[in-house]
Amino acid sequence: MKKRIVAGMLTALMAVSMVGCGGASSDTADSGNAGSDAGADAGTEAAADGDVITVGFAQVGHESDWRTASTKSVQDAFSADKGYDLQFVDCDNDSAAQIEAVRQFIQDDVDYIVIDPIVSTGWDTVLTECEDAGIPVIVIDRTIDDSDKYVSWVGSEFMNEGLAAGTWLKDYAEAKGISDLNILVIEGSNGSSAQIGRTDGFKKIADAEGWTILDSQDGNFTQDGGQQVMESYCKSYEGQFNVVVCQNDNEAFGAMDAMTAAGVSYGVDKDVILISFDACKSGLEFVQSGDINADFMCYPLQGEYCADIVQKLEAGETVDKQTFMTEPWYVAEDILPSITYTNNAGEEVTEELVVVTDAASQASY
Ligand code: AHR
Repeated sequence: MKKRIVAGMLTALMAVSMVGCGGASSDTADSGNAGSDAGADAGTEAAADGDVITVGFAQVGHESDWRTASTKSVQDAFSADKGYDLQFVDCDNDSAAQIEAVRQFIQDDVDYIVIDPIVSTGWDTVLTECEDAGIPVIVIDRTIDDSDKYVSWVGSEFMNEGLAAGTWLKDYAEAKGISDLNILVIEGSNGSSAQIGRTDGFKKIADAEGWTILDSQDGNFTQDGGQQVMESYCKSYEGQFNVVVCQNDNEAFGAMDAMTAAGVSYGVDKDVILISFDACKSGLEFVQSGDINADFMCYPLQGEYCADIVQKLEAGETVDKQTFMTEPWYVAEDILPSITYTNNAGEEVTEELVVVTDAASQASY
């Protein structure tokens, strides 16, 4: 790849793309999750030119079904037959290792760096090093909140996921005639923007409604973590809770095992209303069977969006600073057609609730 050309135009591109940045509000038209074909075709053209593009990808880890799908998506988008040499590092949820991986990419003089940041802060120094080396950085999934030295971000509006979950619970409890909500939350990895956004969004509704959040602990986005936290909750809050919010599906799978072992029933018309995030295939199967009441999708297939950004940069085009994934909300029962809430951009939105069918769960990742 023509590294010098990209390095030369990086400063100008970043100056353009930073306009409107600075917060999770939507300053870019909704992607509709439809960016894949352009990236795939452009990558094939690069391969035909015989000009290999090197990309370093510092991935969070391998903690969930979501993460597995994300890794595969990026590996597929930057495959050798599309003209890429992908250097993949699984950072195993270790922030220091992730910074080191980025520094190694700089040393290896890759053409582009893709980062899915484990935590949202602590990035400015290493991103300055990337900038000084003339290597464009693309951020996916989670956000970096203390630096704007990256060309583009592609991911989810986590705050809206939390707001939607809270709003759904409010409307659902009302429809079911449940007035007293006592809630346990199993959070995702502390300091990640996914954990922060989902926690803050849900809490905003909980505070407004006067619900009791009995406890909120880190389950690290893993099945084991979800199970361990739920085992402890079942002992500490025996008979006191009727809602469990898990911040991803794998935590929900662990929490279900723990509740079953403790004799607590969950799902449609059971002891506990169970809410989850991600909407992976297994998660949606549990929604369909009525074990999970509602599942708020987080869309992981962002690889082709990255490839599309790389190809635009190769062509000297400007790229959007932010691209938001489109994410449906899934439910087990046909009780509420939609929810209406004020999103993180301050807009009142009405969003459809999708009752899970075979087709929906099989179409998921
Ligand atoms: O950052 C996205 C979150 O991280 C997903 O919800 C979770 O499954 C993953 O590990």
